[in-house]
Amino acid sequence: MTYEQIRDILTQHHQLHLLNYYEELTPDQQKSLLEQISSINWNLLDLLQNRKNTKDEKGKLEPLGALEISEIEAQKEEFTKIGIEALKTQKVGAVLLAGGQGTRLGFDKPKGMFNVGITKELYIFECLIHNLMDVVRQIDTWVPLYIMTSDKNHNDTVSFFHEKNFFGYNPEYVHFFKQDMAPSVDYNGKLLMESKDRLSLSPNGNGGWFHSLQNAGLISQMKEIGVEWLTVFAVDNVLQRINDPAYVGAVIASGCDCGGKVVRKADPYERVGVLCLEDGHPSIVEYYEMTDDMIHLKDQDGNLLYNFGVILNYMFRLNKLEEIVNKQLPVHIVEKKIPYIDDNGQLVKPSEPNGYKFEELVLDMIHLMDTCLPYEVVRNYEFAPIKNPTGIDSVESARELLKQNGVTL
Ligand code: UTP
Repeated sequence: MTYEQIRDILTQHHQLHLLNYYEELTPDQQKSLLEQISSINWNLLDLLQNRKNTKDEKGKLEPLGALEISEIEAQKEEFTKIGIEALKTQKVGAVLLAGGQGTRLGFDKPKGMFNVGITKELYIFECLIHNLMDVVRQIDTWVPLYIMTSDKNHNDTVSFFHEKNFFGYNPEYVHFFKQDMAPSVDYNGKLLMESKDRLSLSPNGNGGWFHSLQNAGLISQMKEIGVEWLTVFAVDNVLQRINDPAYVGAVIASGCDCGGKVVRKADPYERVGVLCLEDGHPSIVEYYEMTDDMIHLKDQDGNLLYNFGVILNYMFRLNKLEEIVNKQLPVHIVEKKIPYIDDNGQLVKPSEPNGYKFEELVLDMIHLMDTCLPYEVVRNYEFAPIKNPTGIDSVESARELLKQNGVTL
């Protein structure tokens, strides 16, 4: 597109400020800025104008329950056998979602590079690889591992894995791929810039992972080696077991399209998403979307019915993912701290949220499945997310839990 065409589009969308510094730029920078502007998805900004279109109205909700720990224990041998068989033939890959910016942690490198160790180095990525290696040792086979990064952290992530020799993992089985980026806006809907020649772009949420795997040509690669299932997990839960055979076996044996690890809520008001049914399909209802009646709904034995929170560890049937890949996921408008250049062209790094990012979320993929198995795991053994430096879901709380589980820090 020419400068004039871009100018017209920006005028139409009241975003002409993106060209404020155009005259100061080199020809290459000018070209690059025009390219960035021409690839803006204006629909996102329309969503902001008309927030009704974003997904905030739920259908009819009903409890879903979970395969509980006692039931899992009773069938553990059978599940483990099925899981080992599938894993040994590389039917189950693992996808690490590491494209986020981890703004709450306030660490300026990829979150996985954060050192949780105290007397020795122990990186978040290292914890996850160690957890996966437990399975690799048990099944005596490498699990194909796909690591999602973004433009913001790709080079740092890849170099770090090489520098650390993949923490003992076999690099032949590790594939990095990048997710897409989306623009960010201030509270008035004005697109933010991170420098005079660059829009402020951020990773577009963790929901685009399958699409990005496909764009990277990795779906055909995994089908060639026989992958039929993909486990997707977050970077920040340093305790989670990844592809543990009992879980894999239970999901396969259930005949469901997907499974999700869940933990019993610590208290009814805990701020976690709960796996339930929405209009007969599996769905995740966020804590703020639950009414007080739902929160306290009990069965005849007095057990809370909406009681199993998700921990961002899902397992999906690959052919089902291919079926839904072109369906539009709802776009969430999320308040974040977004670095930007001010009217004087100076970079500002805000300490409080100052605008919105647009994100698609993996949890919305659950609702596109027909069936889902919620699989309960022991909370203190599998759930230690690192979101914040201190307090709830923090470096501090994760360190405590790691110690409780015998990990030397
Ligand atoms: P979070 O919801 O914690 O988001 O991500 P975040 O961006 O990493 O962190 P904050 O909110 O800014 O503090 C949950 C998981 O999804 C991944 C993260 O890397 C993490 O594993 N994620 C998130 C992506 O892969 N891409 C994204 O665009 C967002």
